[in-house]
Amino acid sequence: MQKQNGLIFAADLKERRKTLNLTRKISDYIDAVKVNYPLVLSTGAEIISDLSDITDVIADFKLADVPHINSRISKIAFNKGASAVICHAFTGEESLKSCTKTASEFDGEVYSVVNMSHPGSEDVMDSSLPKLCEISKKADIDGVIAPGNQPDKIEMIKNKIDTKILSPGIGAQGGKGKKAISAGADYIIVGRSIYDSTDPVKSAKKIRDNIKMYYSNE
Ligand code: C5P
Repeated sequence: MQKQNGLIFAADLKERRKTLNLTRKISDYIDAVKVNYPLVLSTGAEIISDLSDITDVIADFKLADVPHINSRISKIAFNKGASAVICHAFTGEESLKSCTKTASEFDGEVYSVVNMSHPGSEDVMDSSLPKLCEISKKADIDGVIAPGNQPDKIEMIKNKIDTKILSPGIGAQGGKGKKAISAGADYIIVGRSIYDSTDPVKSAKKIRDNIKMYYSNE
């Protein structure tokens, strides 16, 4: 994924045409589109190929299975045209390595989830954060997912692992793009604040411009 905008669109919609049209319209403001179960289960895996004609696709299936299944799912996503997959780190080094090994066959990337942005995530994930970073490092991942609505966590993660940070939790979940970036995030991931807004294209541009202004001031 080439960094030009620092913004990743979380396309958590259910309609194929709407998703493709919107992604096309905002393609100048994003570096990738992230697909999750709502979209892929509603429209089918071909949506990955269709979107990959527009921009890079990150397959966010939060893989958390035994190694050979993680590997099979990653392979399908990469074969469909995904540039990256997202995997949970809590299933351990071997499961995560099955994804990084598969990704290397496709020149793809793997991002591991080391913390989450929703209330309740702290119940289990916070105390495991150092271990999840260690597992991710050992599996040689390309980056991690860290909560953009908790800049202190981004800083903590940045100190534990020297890698790219992708941060959801911006806008609808309360996070601010600039704060996440200044805490160390490389990209912000935004869904509802774009696709639920009255003018999604304008919103995407505004969100991109906000963080871009910050980059140019760095
Ligand atoms: O609509 P919103 O911007 O809150 O969407 C956030 C997206 O990021 C969703 O696709 C969600 O699955 C994902 N995500 C998240 N928190 C994480 C990891 C992924 O919100 N820790």
